[in-house]
Amino acid sequence: MTNTVYVTRKLPEEAVAELRASCKVRMWDKEEDVVPREVLEKEIATADGLLSMLTDPIDEDLLKSAQNLKAISQMAVGHNNIDIEAASARQIAVLTTPGVLTETTADLTFALLMAVARRIPEAERFLKKGDWTTWSPMLLTGADVYGATLGIIGLGRIGEAVAKRAKGFSMDVVYHSRSRKPEKEARLGLRYGSMDDVLAQSDYLVLMIPYSKETHHLIDADAIKKMKPSCFLINTARGDIVDEKALYDALVSGDLAGAGLDVFAQEPVPTSHPLLTLDNVVALPHIGSASVTTRRKMATMAAKQLVQTLHGERPPTLINA
Ligand code: DGY
Repeated sequence: MTNTVYVTRKLPEEAVAELRASCKVRMWDKEEDVVPREVLEKEIATADGLLSMLTDPIDEDLLKSAQNLKAISQMAVGHNNIDIEAASARQIAVLTTPGVLTETTADLTFALLMAVARRIPEAERFLKKGDWTTWSPMLLTGADVYGATLGIIGLGRIGEAVAKRAKGFSMDVVYHSRSRKPEKEARLGLRYGSMDDVLAQSDYLVLMIPYSKETHHLIDADAIKKMKPSCFLINTARGDIVDEKALYDALVSGDLAGAGLDVFAQEPVPTSHPLLTLDNVVALPHIGSASVTTRRKMATMAAKQLVQTLHGERPPTLINA
């Protein structure tokens, strides 16, 4: 019998074609609106496969109505929107799209670091407002990236790709992760440190870990106290890893120099959010992996591995094997 798959957002045609080749495809045909809960509930009740986005809360209640569902393939590497335990309990395979977005996300992480360090958005606003009257010695001076210490929390694929870029800027790179990575240390010239070492030594601190109960508010007021007041925090992982209230307080009091944020506890972040009022915050709308090529690769990969799983294969990106 032909499998039915439900796709929760309009995808590039080549990805949909992968699905159509062997499945009956239904799709929430909108690019910029999240599928409403009631629509998802109805669709998931009869679908064999689901191609989901990080914006879809896939919880136990939703999965209760999924009678035929065998696989969820998410177009993202993060999967904190999916209740993995509930999926596993129902023998629903969950797949993600690691690998294809590594370099693009590392590029954006570095771009954000440089933007906040050198005050690029602020400088552009200044120029476009007509405030530029003359070159002057200390106008819009920022912090050096070259030669500074970069702290990386989490040395997975993207963390490693950020470390490589940092080496190109002659940065001293210190990292912390659950387990030490001697091969990467030697190959890339990285130092390992405890969490406290990394917090204390970083001129730039980059978060490269997934969100989970364990990483919820990892960067809170206590962690910030251990950081240099001249440090910049860069978050392209998940918003809830940072206590945003503590971050705001530190940025206002001068206990941190600035922040580059691509992710927020609530997305879309309300434009009235206090963090968005600060000049030392560069804020982006969760675009870490947003290059045309990478988003196409992610969509196609999510589609292909959904089909493979429905045909009884076990793609290597299965996370609840
Ligand atoms: C992910 O993949 O989890 C990113 O947040 C979006 O690419």
